[in-house]
Amino acid sequence: MDHAKALQAVERLMIEIVESEVDVLREASRHILTAGGKRMRPRVTLLAYEAVGGDQLDVVLPVAAAVELVHTATLVHDDINDHGLVRRGRQTINAIWGRTFALLTGDFLFTKVYTLMAPYGDLNVIFAQMTSELVEGETLQAAAAKEGKLNRETYACIIAKKTAALFAGAAKLGAKLGNGTPQQVEALYQYGFNLGLAFQIVDDILDLIADSQKLGKTAGIDVAQGKGFAVAVVGNGAHSAVVVAEEPAEDPAKALKRKLLEGSYIEEGWQQARQLAAIAKRQLDCLPPSAARDELLRLADAAVEREY
Ligand code: IPE
Ligand code: IPE
Ligand code: MG
Ligand code: MG
Repeated sequence: MDHAKALQAVERLMIEIVESEVDVLREASRHILTAGGKRMRPRVTLLAYEAVGGDQLDVVLPVAAAVELVHTATLVHDDINDHGLVRRGRQTINAIWGRTFALLTGDFLFTKVYTLMAPYGDLNVIFAQMTSELVEGETLQAAAAKEGKLNRETYACIIAKKTAALFAGAAKLGAKLGNGTPQQVEALYQYGFNLGLAFQIVDDILDLIADSQKLGKTAGIDVAQGKGFAVAVVGNGAHSAVVVAEEPAEDPAKALKRKLLEGSYIEEGWQQARQLAAIAKRQLDCLPPSAARDELLRLADAAVEREY
């Protein structure tokens, strides 16, 4: 299977499937889908499929597209919740069309997952599990931020659900569809899970240190909202109180960000992400050597060593 061609086919299928006689749904969906994005999750599905011996593009294609649609739908909804104004280098749907249409476009993208996955029987159970976890993760995060109760333990639980579950499911779907052995399916699931954790930690670090233009999305909003790796490591409730007491004139979010940048938290995050990527890569030892396995190894490195 030619990987670049497979990804192009995923793009075409996604654009095709969001056809609608309702202009705003079609236009807003295509606005976000044609803006690019790293396509990490469909890559994982395609590569996991190939790594266990799958070779039929038309079989894996709808599943890879459905995985990316889930992800894109969550970004559309996430930007409503986070008041994000830029996504994938473009204005967000909520910024252009408003919150109501952004909410509905996200819903619309989710409905297309049903369409794509209709022929796939039991694999829908994996979609059900990973999407439930995703919503649980986002909800736990919102609750922890609201109550000022984010700490390392809750953070680990949040990112496992909101991000790693989808990466793990993406890999498991590919492995199952390619008729991998139970051991290979489990190994690829663990690969995806650890990759997802690493990916989210790096995303949180980049929110703190990179600028919006480079990221193609609104940066610097995690600390202000009491979210993310660095806030969790410090413990948001207690720390912001200390910051306010020490620096009464400074905005608490700005003061917290300054402290986070001064400390070793960023380096700690990179280290954790690198360790998780190494764990992900080790899972692939049980797979036969192949170009797809090599690409999965490279993907784990790319998830950590990135600037956007
Ligand atoms: C952003 O995901 C949200 C996270 C789970 C960190 P990506 O960084 O994969 O976003 P796109 O698809 O490339 O825009
Ligand atoms: C990822 O969280 C969103 C989901 C997993 C649904 P973020 O809030 O970190 O994503 P970005 O940074 O806005 O892309
Ligand atoms: Mg966000
Ligand atoms: Mg983020």
